Amino acid sequence: MKLIAPSVLSADFGNLRQDLEMINRSDADWLHVDVMDGVFVPNISFGFPLMVPMKKYCTKPLDVHLMIVHPEKYVERFCDAGAWSVGFHLEAVEDPLPILDLIKGKGVRTCLTINPDIDVTRLVPYLDKVDMVLLMSVFAGFGGQKFIPETMTKIRFIREEIDRLGLGTLVEIDGGVNTANAAELFAAGADVLVAGSAVFGTEDPEEAIRVMKR
Ligand code: DX5
Ligand code: ZN
Repeated sequence: MKLIAPSVLSADFGNLRQDLEMINRSDADWLHVDVMDGVFVPNISFGFPLMVPMKKYCTKPLDVHLMIVHPEKYVERFCDAGAWSVGFHLEAVEDPLPILDLIKGKGVRTCLTINPDIDVTRLVPYLDKVDMVLLMSVFAGFGGQKFIPETMTKIRFIREEIDRLGLGTLVEIDGGVNTANAAELFAAGADVLVAGSAVFGTEDPEEAIRVMKR
């Protein structure tokens, strides 16, 4: 699959509705929603109040990426707020299984995420229990960082595992994705590319999305 999920983190919050309408018009597949708590990551983004306009004005599925401690306390509220998928970090929890069950109980798709310093093999036991895995290609916390090249090997590894097990689990890549590296990432086995600054930081975001998709 070749999907693009622009990250709303880099949108202009003073003109959020216009930016969401641009996403609606564009070839973007999902809207990636980055939630940061200032504890799991050294930055705070936004929370539930912004889910309301995003749900109201964005026609694309909301792909929620929680960069928070204690995701078990909040996943159901994000589901109720209209998330299409909810993901949290494996390294933020002791046991992801009961939290995945909370999300599944709401009929919402699940995603497990790891930062670049977490061994990718730790995802393998969960590949048949989630709809998607997200490999961070920068350290979670900020938009506009440089893509970590070592991510390429991890993409190939996790793609091979998923194929070997005969699963349909999607592989999402998040951080430093741009029009120059998108094709290589898809070729390595990524299904979904998140892009913040490479979309909202350009003159022609719709064209940037088109370029990344082909
Ligand atoms: C980083 C977030 C990313 C971020 C990507 O913690 O998870 O989704 O918005 O931004 P860019 O594409 O600018 O690296
Ligand atoms: Zn993200």
